[in-house]
Order: sequence, then structure tokens, then C-alpha cells
Amino acid sequence: MSDKKAARTPGGNSWSIEDALDLYQIPAWGKGYFSINAAGHVVVRPDTTTDREIDLHEVVQGLLARDLRTPVVVRFSDILAHRLKRLHDAFAQAIAENEYRNRYAAVFPIKVNQQRLVVEEVFRYGKPYGFGLEVGSKPELLSVMAMTEGSPDRLIICNGFKDSSYIEAVILATKLGRTIIPVVENFAELALILRHAETYGVRPRIGVRVKLASEGSGRWRHSAGDRSKFGLFTTEILELVQVLRERDMLDCLQLVHCHPGSQLQDIRRVTEAINELAHVYAELRSLGAGLKYIDVGGGLGVDYDGSGTNFSSSMNYTLAEYASNVVYRIASVCNERGVEHPMIISESGRAIAAHHSLLIFDVLGCSAMDRFEVPPGDIPGPRQRDAPQPVRDLADAFRSVSPRRLVECYHDAQAARDQALQMFKLGLLSLQHRGLVERLYWATCTKIRDAARRLDEIPEELDELEAILSDTYFCNFSVFQSLPDSWAIDQLFPIVPVHRLNEQPARKAVLADITCDSDGKIDRFVSLRDTRRTLELHPLRKGEDYFLAVFLVGAYQETLGDLHNLFGDTHVAHIRLHDEGGWWIEEIVKGDTANKVLEYMEYDVAELYPALSRDCERAVRDGRMTLAESQALKRFYETELDGYTYLEP
Ligand SMILES: Cc1ncc(COP(=O)(O)O)c(C=O)c1O
Repeated sequence: MSDKKAARTPGGNSWSIEDALDLYQIPAWGKGYFSINAAGHVVVRPDTTTDREIDLHEVVQGLLARDLRTPVVVRFSDILAHRLKRLHDAFAQAIAENEYRNRYAAVFPIKVNQQRLVVEEVFRYGKPYGFGLEVGSKPELLSVMAMTEGSPDRLIICNGFKDSSYIEAVILATKLGRTIIPVVENFAELALILRHAETYGVRPRIGVRVKLASEGSGRWRHSAGDRSKFGLFTTEILELVQVLRERDMLDCLQLVHCHPGSQLQDIRRVTEAINELAHVYAELRSLGAGLKYIDVGGGLGVDYDGSGTNFSSSMNYTLAEYASNVVYRIASVCNERGVEHPMIISESGRAIAAHHSLLIFDVLGCSAMDRFEVPPGDIPGPRQRDAPQPVRDLADAFRSVSPRRLVECYHDAQAARDQALQMFKLGLLSLQHRGLVERLYWATCTKIRDAARRLDEIPEELDELEAILSDTYFCNFSVFQSLPDSWAIDQLFPIVPVHRLNEQPARKAVLADITCDSDGKIDRFVSLRDTRRTLELHPLRKGEDYFLAVFLVGAYQETLGDLHNLFGDTHVAHIRLHDEGGWWIEEIVKGDTANKVLEYMEYDVAELYPALSRDCERAVRDGRMTLAESQALKRFYETELDGYTYLEP
């Protein structure tokens, strides 16, 4: 059956796979990498062709069969390879269209996902295009210096704050033969470069980060502008040129760089920044600098919500438009000024890594706000004197719900409940009556919501009822560990059930994680217009797993995650397409054990078990525990120390 064919839900309602694709907006944000098959399972199409797809539910079952329980991060290396190719192809096309007389290379900023396996794959798949790597700290530099063994021509761009030993390492790496460029981010770094270059007799390649004049817009707008943390003022750049000229080293100034901010939503921001940088390039060339590279930084966005708009979780341009804008701007400035076309570098991180990785977790249970029922016998009549007035008012609101009186009944119910709660606080209402008020109120709201759903147009005041009455699905993961940007900066990520998509999802829910933190929740979801406050999900079935997948999590989430409540790294699996069809698991990285996270926190893990064991033996000696009980506790403790930090139902 094709994607488009209708499926029958077990309930008999007509619900098609196309409805599910529509509801979760998969074609909009999936960019061809994700869809749904006839079985109602999410499928992954690593090279966006329909003939090579991987059934995600099958992958989850395959992992379970290997004792890898959810939560698990699943990385599709073939998507990573495809993203790199797409980036290369977009620039190749723009270069051809603009008759640009130089080439393009991306340098992957490894801070976007420093996991060794990811960086190694980017490095491997980027080889045919001559892509390089970007580092922003000493440890990042150390990892990249080793990785580029045998590939001295691959570019390494060094950004971030640099001390003397960072720069010494860069100079020595130059001597080793690496194509490495330290980017001067603040003026003091220049002296260090010159000193170490002289000590080791190296003619260094030097880059300079330009403080762009305009601040731009969006969440990362302060990456540029006068008050930005990085970059040299024009006066300092001119001073740098003067210093290099005096030392006869102007040819060493090889790269100009800017970083206009991450997740640029608006193409105008890209155009402005690149235009400004291209003029700086042309000016410096005319001052005699030996510039070869123009580095336009990061910022190429990811359309997380698929809306294609100037919204923080989206972008109002395509990859092709980005490449075309960058190349066209640089070409036109260079042509106008009669200077050579430089090699174009971008430090695109998010756009390379986001799509290839997704997080899958299981739902542990749910609580529904619309579950409250009031048997007719419990509902007080209008003249029932033993029920306090607000309780009778609430009962009246409950009875009166009708399509014409929805807003009025909602107001009456709210007012009656408020009065009842006031009376309770004054000691004038019993706990039994408070319980009845609770049930009556939520049952009234549910009645109103259900009636409103049948209207052609829902009155504005009742809009909130869907969110207020939504279920909470308790999910086996930590927002802080696996989706930190969802918590910290309200980043939206698409979330879709992995299976049962041939069934109409009958519930609306928000998600709560298993941390003991009220912030550990997701209550904003992607939508083409605005954001949605609830996610459509299927009712849970007893004894059956229900898996959800969060998509586009390959950038920034893994390394920014933290150990809140000591929930550690999740398991990771690298899934590859098989040449002969199907898929296989290339790598499994087991998640943190309790031992490991306790060790991070400076516990002497070797001492934990003996301490508990001593106490157990004392309890047996004193008769507080039987030997069997003590052994059970010791065994539990030992097993859990080596166990996964997440729930294993
Ligand atoms: C200097 C620099 N380059 C590149 C990037 C990567 O940006 P993005 O992931 O938006 O492409 C960043 C991230 O903010 C950055 O600070």
C-alpha cells in the first residue's frame, strides 16, 4: 500500500496515512528524510529516495532484542552523508550559476556534536568535498589534531578564546604540516601567534574575526554587533595589518571570518552579514593582505517546525537560497572591486548534524484531566440545602451545558469553584464537598470542551480548554539530558509516535519527563501556524509499549545535556542502510550506568557497595533483617550500580 492509501482504524473510522503525515507535518520538516509506511510506522529515508527506507519501529524492536532499552538516540549515518552532499551540491550549483572562480568547503564546528563517532563520520563523508573541521577550545583542537593524521590538506579553523599553549599547539601543528588557521578573536592573540611563530620558525596562516556592525536579529543576535563577545573592531584590524606589514607578514593574513549568529531565521540577515564581510575582504586585499579565504561562519538554519517562516524554530529560506546568496554577494563585491574570488568557507554545524539523529523513548503512563465523572446520585439538586451554595451552583453549571450556553456555563463553573475553594480555606467546606467540587468542575469543563469540538467555530475563551484538559504522558527520558534546548531556549523539535500511525490519535497530551523538576516537560509542539500546546497521541494500551520519537536532535543536544537527577547519557545506536536492502547496526554505545554518573559526581564508587554491605550485615546481626532480605538488598544494589540510569519497566 502506498503512503497515500487509506487505512482503517480498529474503531472503524476512516483515517489515512496521509492524515497522519499532515497532522504531524512530516513532509514539511522532514525534508524527504522521514515518512510513514502502510503499517503506520515512521520510516527513515536516508538518501530521501522511497526505495531505500528503514522502518523505525523495526529498529526499536531490533534494539530491544539486543537488550538496549529506550531511551535511545538513533543516528542515521547515511543522513549525515547526505546532508554533507546536499551542502556541497548547493554551493557547487551556486558557484556554477555565478561563474565564481574559486571553490567552497564547509568546516564542521565540532562543538555542535563532539561525539567521536559523529565527528569521525563527518570527517570521513566530507572527504570527497574537501571539508574540514572547526574547533573552539584546546580539547577540541587536540581531538582534531589526531583525527587529521594523514589528511594534512583538510582545513582546521581555530576559533574561541586562546591562551599561549593553545596557540603554541596551533603553530606546532602548522609545522607538522596541517592546514590550520588560528582566527584572531581578540587583539592580544596576535602577539601570541607572532611570538610562537618566531620561536618555531613557522610562517603561520592567520585569520581575523570581524566584529560586524549590525547586530542582526533572533536569539543569537549578540554573536555580532559592537557588543559581541568576539571579533576585532575595524581600528584593531587596521592595527593588525600595520603590525603584519611591519614584520613583512601581510601574506600570512589569509582568512577573514564572521559569525552572524546561529539558526538565522531571516535570509536578509545572511545577505547583510556576508555583504559587510565581503567588503572587509576586498578592503584588506587592497591593503595588501594575502587573503585566500572568506569564512562566513555558522548560522545556516534548520526548519524545525517546517513552516518556512521567519520564526525562531524555522527559517524563511532554503539551503539553495542560502548558498546562492552567499556566493552571489561575495562574487558581486569582488567583481565590483576587481579583487580575486576567495575560497568560501562556512562553519555550518546545525544544518549538517541536526537531521541525522533522533531520540526515542517509551511512555510509562498517563494522567487524564477529563477522567472525572460524577454519578447522577452525587449531583446536588437546586434546592438541596445540605449542599453549600457554590456546590449547587457548580452542579447547575454542569447540568446546563448546551451548545448555546458554553461560555456562560464555563464562567459559572469557574466562579462557583473559586467560591468553593475560598470557603474551604475559611474552614466552611468539608473535604468531601471539596472533592465533589473538583469532580464537578472538571466534568463540566470536559462537557463544555466536547460540545465546543462539535461547533463550526470555537469561541476564543474556550480555546484554552484543550490545553487545560490535555493528558499528561509520562515519558522515560530527561529533557535536561536529551533535549536541553527545549528547556533552556524553548526550541521546538518535531515529535511523532513511532508506530500506530494508521490509527487516528484520539488523545491530546503534553509530555512530562522522569526528572523531579516541573520544568521537565514539553508543552509546545510544532505547527505550521503558531505553536501547538498539545500533541495528538494514541490512548495507551495495557501491556503494550508506546514509543515516541523526537526528530532533528543531532545538533547541540547531546553535549549540552546535563545530569539533572543523575540521568546520564542514553544508549546510542548507529544505523546504516544495507547495500542489499534493509539496515544494520554499525555501532552501539551503551548509555551511562549509575556507577559512571556517581563517579562524575566524585563518589568513590568502590566504597559504595562495601558501605551498604556492612550495614546489611549489622542489620542481620541485630535481627532487623533476615539473611535473605539482606542478600536481596545487596543484590539489588550491586545490579543497579551497573544498571542504566533510566527506568526499565
Ligand atoms: C564561531 C561559530 N561558528 C559556527 C557556529 C555554528 O553555527 P550553526 O550551528 O548555526 O551553523 C557557531 C555556533 O554558534 C559559532 O559560534
